[in-house]
Amino acid sequence: MQLQDILYSQGFGTRRVCAGLVQQGWVAVSTTGVQGEYVPCTEAAADFDPEGLQLRVQGVDWPYHEKAYVLLHKPVGTECSQKPSTYPSIYTLLPAPMRQRPSKTAVQGIQAVGRLDQDTTGMLLLSDDGQFIHRMSSPKKHVPKVYQVTTKHPVDEVQVNKLLAGVVLDDDPKPVRAAACALVDTHRLDLTLTEGKYHQVKRMLAAVGNRVEGLHRSQIGSMALPADLAPGQWRWLSADDLQVLVASPL
Ligand code: URA
Repeated sequence: MQLQDILYSQGFGTRRVCAGLVQQGWVAVSTTGVQGEYVPCTEAAADFDPEGLQLRVQGVDWPYHEKAYVLLHKPVGTECSQKPSTYPSIYTLLPAPMRQRPSKTAVQGIQAVGRLDQDTTGMLLLSDDGQFIHRMSSPKKHVPKVYQVTTKHPVDEVQVNKLLAGVVLDDDPKPVRAAACALVDTHRLDLTLTEGKYHQVKRMLAAVGNRVEGLHRSQIGSMALPADLAPGQWRWLSADDLQVLVASPL
């Protein structure tokens, strides 16, 4: 594959812009993936096998990814929309090429797998692989998501049992239930859901007479948010992470 096309596929701009980056000496490549083995390349049409290729573009290392799978620790006060109304968008926390990756569909770049409210923190997946997004977000796939909920009022077994039995939310006569619910403290519970309706945790807690004061998503499927990923930080998902996520039955 030509270097200019590889750069284009990673979101570095139009083919013309990518050819310009190469010709102006902004691109180096490493076929071994070893730091220090980058070799400058000024030939836009130079041919490389993209699999395992490490690019260095304008000084920034960029491992080639045919599809992008990303984990973000969403900080408080950010919106999951590309066009936020009040708070900064989570997409501003990610490098620009991720938002510009070309796609055959109408939507360009990576998309969040479901949304978290502006005041919710924690684990957020993003990808440009439509099948993966569907696999992780469709209620029919039953991928469990664990929320650490801090409540305004004390939580008790009665509320826990109601959440497990199912509560009716205003817009839907069908009750929604927690797949699991564990009391952690007087004002803390861990709630596991396999679907993602609008404000679902907040509305479920309101339906049992309580109120959410803090919400953090700590786990998706069998994968927990890594402790070393601080709020606002992101990383590529590894092949192992993806296996854990995709093999995530409750
Ligand atoms: N449920 C909510 O109420 N808010 C979120 O952000 C996620 C789940």
